[in-house]
Amino acid sequence: MTEFWKEHSRQATVEEMMLDSHAQELTQHELPEILSLLPRLSGQRVLELGAGIGRYTSHLLTQASHVTAVDFMESFVEKNRQDNSHYSNAAFLQADVTKLDFPKNSFDIIFSNWLLMYLSDEELTSLTERMLGWLCPRGYLFFRESCNYQSGDCKRTFNPTHYRSSAHYSHLMTTTLREESEGTEKQVFGFDIVLSKTVQTYIKMKNNQNQVCWLLEKVGRDTACQEGFSTFQQFLDNQQYTRKGILRYEKMFGAGYVSTGGPSTTEEFVNLLNLKPGKKVLDVGCGIGGGNFYMAKAFGVEVLGLDLSANMVDIAIERAMEENWPLPCSYFSVFSYNETHTRLEVTRSRMRNILG
Ligand SMILES: C[S@@+](CC[C@H](N)C(=O)[O-])C[C@H]1O[C@@H](n2cnc3c(N)ncnc32)[C@H](O)[C@@H]1O
Repeated sequence: MTEFWKEHSRQATVEEMMLDSHAQELTQHELPEILSLLPRLSGQRVLELGAGIGRYTSHLLTQASHVTAVDFMESFVEKNRQDNSHYSNAAFLQADVTKLDFPKNSFDIIFSNWLLMYLSDEELTSLTERMLGWLCPRGYLFFRESCNYQSGDCKRTFNPTHYRSSAHYSHLMTTTLREESEGTEKQVFGFDIVLSKTVQTYIKMKNNQNQVCWLLEKVGRDTACQEGFSTFQQFLDNQQYTRKGILRYEKMFGAGYVSTGGPSTTEEFVNLLNLKPGKKVLDVGCGIGGGNFYMAKAFGVEVLGLDLSANMVDIAIERAMEENWPLPCSYFSVFSYNETHTRLEVTRSRMRNILG
């Protein structure tokens, strides 16, 4: 992977780093979208991994109490330093994330935009374990990746990137655990999905459903509750709505549907809504998205589907990729609810951001 990035970091331009000739225009639109999905940055210690020339670093620095920006390419780190070292709360580090380490609880938020696809599964699992250690409990990890296939239009002589499915990321990141000890007490930590969502900029500008981002939270795992699962979401994804189970429901209820009535009930209900092109619809509990596709196709509305089950949303995103129809279209997001007040506040403000 070092060779690949040496070849694409000679000029340290945004086009070269994003491997796309429309990098400037894409940046103008995706930056506000991605930043709006982050938790509150003020007073937070942020670690940015794979920071490149610092497209995001400069924005993180205006709000966070401190930002450590890491990249393994010298020219990228230098450009980031040149542009952003006037901020007193910045640190720049040239390092390979596969060998990186920090003391326990060093950061509140880890941000990475297009890094994990440059790591093998083994490297990704090892980094996830270490990130769980670097984050304080209830700290957040935000990451965004190109799924399934290449998105940038730059020609590559060789391309060692791992274009995983969104389901592969969700599974790998939520099943990696880390045991921590405090005196004689031992506690196991893992990541819960707070949000996983397709990037709308790429859908609107490139009709590309393959850009997916996640917001995860570091939580204690207590397998004693929720019938052996530490969260309701895990119960859903591992028992009630396993991928196999969902596809079985779909066989019973019709393509795109996982509940009684399937397409006919959806048609009947949706036809009462007086939908018109240009309207926006929020589908809460969207399942695998049959209703969303129907509304978008039949009425020309823009639909955001939310579901608590990561497996449902992963399948919905895959189906949206297969559909590949012109705009307007559907967006999907895993959205988890938590009993704590703080979490609900986060959820409310994020809901406002998602709805735009
Ligand atoms: C597509 S660029 C994204 C840069 C930046 N995050 C952005 O969105 O503008 C991917 C970055 O990951 C860095 N990278 C890839 N593998 C890495 C590794 N093992 N350790 C550190 N940086 C790495 C590359 O040097 C490159 O700067």
